[in-house]
Amino acid sequence: MAWDPQAYAAHAAFVPALGNAAFELLGAVAGERVLDLGCGDGVLTSRIAAEGAEVVGIDADPAMVAAAVEKGVNARLGDGRRLTFAGEFDAVFSNAALHWMGDPAPVVAGVFRALKPGGRFVGEFGGHGNIAAIRVAVRAVLAARGYRVPAAEENYYPTAPEYRVALEAGGFVVDGCWIVPRPTPIASGMAAWLQTFRGGFIDAIGVPAAERAQVIEDTRAMLRPILADGAGNWTADYVRLRFAAHKPE
Ligand SMILES: C[S@@+](CC[C@H](N)C(=O)[O-])C[C@H]1O[C@@H](n2cnc3c(N)ncnc32)[C@H](O)[C@@H]1O
Repeated sequence: MAWDPQAYAAHAAFVPALGNAAFELLGAVAGERVLDLGCGDGVLTSRIAAEGAEVVGIDADPAMVAAAVEKGVNARLGDGRRLTFAGEFDAVFSNAALHWMGDPAPVVAGVFRALKPGGRFVGEFGGHGNIAAIRVAVRAVLAARGYRVPAAEENYYPTAPEYRVALEAGGFVVDGCWIVPRPTPIASGMAAWLQTFRGGFIDAIGVPAAERAQVIEDTRAMLRPILADGAGNWTADYVRLRFAAHKPE
C-alpha cells in the first residue's frame, strides 16, 4: 500500500515512539554499520544514528524514503523481500515493518546475507492476534457491503514459535522471541487510524473512493463498544512480536 508521510507523522507517531524497547534491545554502538529495514520516515533511524552508528534505511515507499532523506537519513528505496547487501552490516534492525512484507523466508534470507558473521537481527513487528478486533471489523463491514474479501490475511502476524522456526530455517541463532500484548491508546481516533493503516487494504478490495469514508465510519461504529471507553478514548488491540537473533561466526 502507499504511505502518506504527513498522515503518518500526524496519526502514527506512536509507532516509532513505542519502538523504544526494540531500539534498546538493538543497543547500537558507535562506529557499527546498521541497516534499518522498513525505515519509514526515519524517526528511529535517526535515533540509531544519534548513537554514533552508521545507518542505512531501506523502505519500499518512495514518499516515506523522501521524508527520511529530509531528516538527513541515508535512506534508499528498496524491497525487504529482495535485499542485495552482502556481508556488510553489524546489525539489521526493523520496527513495525516485517508484517507488511508477508512470507518471512525471502526477508530472513536477505537479512542473513546482509550481515557480517556474528551480526545481529533485532526488531519488533505485529505478532499473532495483532489488531484482531479491527481486522475482523473491517472484513465484516466489507463483506456486508457485498465485497469479496480474500480468505488469506494480507499481513504476516506469526506466533513466537512460528517466527523462531522461520529465523532458524534462515540460519540464525535465536537469542529471544517473545509475544508482547500492547494495548495502544489511539489519540487521533479510530477513523484516522483506519485511514492511515487500512486505507490501502480497503482500496485494494475495490471500494470506490466515494464509498471509502462510509466503510471507515461503519467500521468505527462496529468497534466503538469494543475498543472505545465511555469518554470515547480509543485503545487498539496491538500485539507485538519482539525478537533478537544473530548470524553464527
Ligand atoms: C508502520 S511503518 C514503520 C516505519 C518505521 N520503521 C517506524 O518505526 O516508524 C511500515 C513501513 O514498512 C514499509 N514496508 C512495507 N513493505 C515493505 C517492503 N516489502 N520492503 C521495505 N519496506 C516495506 C512501509 O513502506 C512503511 O514505511
